Amino acid sequence: MNPFSYGTVVKGENFYDREEESKRIVDTLGGGNNLVLYAPRRFGKTSLVFNAIEQLKKQGYNCIYFDFMPVFSPESFVRLYAKALSSQQSNLQKFAKTFISTVKNIRPVLGLGQEGKLEFSIDFANEKVDETIVSQLLDLPEMMAGKNQRILIFFDEFQEVEKLKDINFEGLLRSKVQQQQHVNYLFFGSKTHIMQAMFNNKNRAFYHAASQMTLGYLPEKDTVDFLQRNFSKKSVHISEEIAQYIISVTANIPHYIQLLAAEIWQNVETGTNITQDMVDKSVLRVVDMKSDYYVELFDHQSKSKKQFLLALCSSGKNIFSEDYIRRYRLPSYATLQRAVSGLINDGIIDRMGSEYFISDPFFKLFLKRTAL
Ligand SMILES: Nc1ncnc2c1ncn2[C@@H]1O[C@H](COP(=O)(O)OP(=O)(O)O)[C@@H](O)[C@H]1O
Ligand SMILES: [Mg+2]
Repeated sequence: MNPFSYGTVVKGENFYDREEESKRIVDTLGGGNNLVLYAPRRFGKTSLVFNAIEQLKKQGYNCIYFDFMPVFSPESFVRLYAKALSSQQSNLQKFAKTFISTVKNIRPVLGLGQEGKLEFSIDFANEKVDETIVSQLLDLPEMMAGKNQRILIFFDEFQEVEKLKDINFEGLLRSKVQQQQHVNYLFFGSKTHIMQAMFNNKNRAFYHAASQMTLGYLPEKDTVDFLQRNFSKKSVHISEEIAQYIISVTANIPHYIQLLAAEIWQNVETGTNITQDMVDKSVLRVVDMKSDYYVELFDHQSKSKKQFLLALCSSGKNIFSEDYIRRYRLPSYATLQRAVSGLINDGIIDRMGSEYFISDPFFKLFLKRTAL
C-alpha cells in the first residue's frame, strides 16, 4: 500500500502536524464562538477541519460538515443542506418532525436507501425555492439543538455563497448566525481574497462576524520526518537534503508533496536510497501525465494572463511595481490587475501574504520547460 495519499481528506497517521490549528478550532467552536479560516487550495483546510470535527465529536458535539462547492442555485442549496443536516441524526423520524415544523413549504420524505437504511430527502413538488424557504431551513439547526445541546456547523468553500446573491443569502445567514444561541459556525474557503472581502469589508454582512485564522505551510522539519518515516516502511532511505528538495519542487504545498512522494514510492526499489535524479524523473512523469491538460489550460488564457504566468515562473513579489511590470513586459497596471483577479478566480494562481504563485507547481514546471 502506498503510504502517501492526496486528493482526499487525510486522516489518522497520514495526517501530521497542525496541532495548534486543530486546538484553536476545537477551543473556539467548543467555546461558543464562530471562526473563519483562510488558506489557498490544497493547503489542508478540509483535512484539518475533519480532524477537528473528530475531536469535537468525541467531546459530544453534534457536528455538521457542508461543502458549498456543488451549490449552484437556491434549490440545490436546500436539497444538499437538508441532506447534510439529516445525515448525522440518529433519529430521523424526530428530525423529520422538526423539519416539518420549521420548514413549512416543502415536504420531507423518509424512504429506504440502497442499504435498507432509512434515508431523508425532500420533495419540492412544484414549490419555487425562494428566500423564505432558505430562511426557514437556516433556522433548522437551532431548532434541532433544542435547549440543552449545541450544534457546530462547518461551511467549506464558503466563498461560493456568492452564487446565491439573488436571494441575499449572505445577509440572511448573517442574521441567523447572530440570533442563534445554540449553533456555532466555522467558515472556511480557498478563495482567500473573496473570503477576506466578506469578513473584513465594513459594507458586507459578515463584517467582523467571526474571529479569523489563516493556515500556513506545514513546518518543513515535520514534512522531512513524515517522508523519512513513510519511506522507511519500504526500507527506503531519503536524506534530509533530498526531502528538502521534494519540498522545494512542490513549493511546500501539502497536496503536491504527497503527490510527488506517492509517485516516487511507486518507482523506488525496496532497500535503496532516493537520489535527486529519481525525484527529477518522477517530476517529469507527473508533468508528462498532465501535459495535455496544461497545454490546453495555457492556450485558453489571454495574452496578458500568459505573460503574467510566465513572469510568475521567476518571481511573485511586488507584482504591481513599475519595475516588475517593465521587467516582465507586462501590460498596464489596470490590465494586469484584471488578469490577476481572473487567474485567482479560476484557481490558477494564489496568494500567500503579499506573494503570488502558480497554484499547481507542476504547471509551473511545465511552463518553465515549454514556454520560457
Ligand atoms: N496535515 C496534513 N498531513 C498530511 N497531508 C496533508 C495535510 N494537510 C494536507 N495534506 C495533503 O494535502 C491534500 C489536500 O488537503 P485538503 O485538506 O483537501 O486541502 P484544502 O481543503 O485546503 O484544499 C491532502 O489530500 C493531503 O495529501
Ligand atoms: Mg478543501
